[in-house]
Amino acid sequence: MDTNARLYQDLDRILLTRDQIQEAVKKLGEKITRDYEGKKPVLIGILRGAVVFFADLVREIDLPLEMEFMAISSYGSSTKSSGVVRIVKDLDRDITGKDVLVVEDIVDSGLTLSHLKQVLETRNAASVSIVTLLDKPARRKVPLEVQYSCFSIPDAFVVGYGLDYDEKYRNLPDIGVLHPRIYTDED
Ligand code: IMP
Ligand code: MG
Repeated sequence: MDTNARLYQDLDRILLTRDQIQEAVKKLGEKITRDYEGKKPVLIGILRGAVVFFADLVREIDLPLEMEFMAISSYGSSTKSSGVVRIVKDLDRDITGKDVLVVEDIVDSGLTLSHLKQVLETRNAASVSIVTLLDKPARRKVPLEVQYSCFSIPDAFVVGYGLDYDEKYRNLPDIGVLHPRIYTDED
């Protein structure tokens, strides 16, 4: 709490500490290492929210792997996605025959990932699995199978460890619930 002290003032409470996150990411990396034994998966990080999680996760996976990134824009407000998804940055390489792991920061309505999964499946990957740091199952609007998730969280808007509100707070090392006064003050 010493660094980023000013950003922490905008939080209502800390939901997940850096130590809890680190432990969960390590376990997830070990599980993926076991599940993909003998394979060379392609991990696709979804910019920008998943970057911090992605960087930690790949270092816990003891397999040869490829790193790719996609950027998606979903039309909607800053706290809710509309499900209308546009690929802003596409993959640089072909994923035909590859075992793909899509790495996201959070699954909320599920609209973004269910759309993206359909897009990737048309590209003839051998498999497409979803990896998320956080899941808010109570908010799901479309069914989505999530193969790997570190934490299920309640329906609250969270920031930190890559997650933003209006592009802020991504650099907080812990994950916290944003104080509601922050949304009401802005606009
Ligand atoms: P979905 O399409 O509703 O599942 O939206 C997923 C995207 O919404 C995530 O990649 C985030 O960018 C954003 N999002 C959803 N909930 C939160 C949150 O609590 N904090 C920050 N971003 C969120
Ligand atoms: Mg995002």
